[in-house]
Amino acid sequence: MKSEREKILEDDRKSVVDFNHVRQFIADNLPILPVPGIPEIRLHKAAPHSGLRRLAEKDPQFGSPYWAHYWGGGLVLARHLLDRPETVAGRDVVDLGAGSGIVGIAAAKAGAAKVDAADIDPYAIAATGLNAKLNDVAIQTVLADLTIGRPPSADVICVGDLFYDAALAKGVTEFLDRCLASGITVLIGDPWRAHLPASRLRLLAEYIVPDFGVSRRNPARGGVFAFESGEQS
Ligand SMILES: C[S@@+](CC[C@H](N)C(=O)[O-])C[C@H]1O[C@@H](n2cnc3c(N)ncnc32)[C@H](O)[C@@H]1O
Repeated sequence: MKSEREKILEDDRKSVVDFNHVRQFIADNLPILPVPGIPEIRLHKAAPHSGLRRLAEKDPQFGSPYWAHYWGGGLVLARHLLDRPETVAGRDVVDLGAGSGIVGIAAAKAGAAKVDAADIDPYAIAATGLNAKLNDVAIQTVLADLTIGRPPSADVICVGDLFYDAALAKGVTEFLDRCLASGITVLIGDPWRAHLPASRLRLLAEYIVPDFGVSRRNPARGGVFAFESGEQS
């Protein structure tokens, strides 16, 4: 069941953002490009002349357009799910902080039974829906802050690049603790951002990936991790 805050967030943003217009804008202005290191997936991505400012001018709450870019965390986690489909095959998966939807799309392609892609940004929801269709996979989009509520009904929660801000990382870590306690497997993809809860992580795989803002000649090292209980055994 949705919490009151989740509902307010949804209702508030839904009334401001014209999803049809946003989808059309993305389709018209953000070219479809192959994803570095992930030839199985194509995404709408911001280009120099995409004119995202035109979207921003219409919406005072327009935030950083994370959904229009690749992120090291999403790239490594998506690569891992495609390389190790047994991780999610036949399971119900939540992609938390979906952005472009890259991780959820990889989970669906790897054979997940169901994928919910959640984000607090309605533009990310629009982009994820469009990118899912582009990649011919079924994904339910959820415009809500899941981190403030009870654990969702899922077998696996995938988290791509959500530890870039201290307050966000704290809220996400507490939420992931509640998910672990209710028996959900938690997988994290991250290029070692400052607020990654490193002491709680077991490294599963490492990849070299281009990251947002990092030169192609100097790409980042990204890890895929299992988030584990902080209790001493
Ligand atoms: C750096 S982007 C990563 C996107 C994608 N996971 C990837 O790796 O490409 C972070 C995303 O998390 C979303 N986000 C931030 N706080 C969130 C929250 N509390 N719940 C859900 N999504 C959130 C942002 O809107 C943004 O789309």
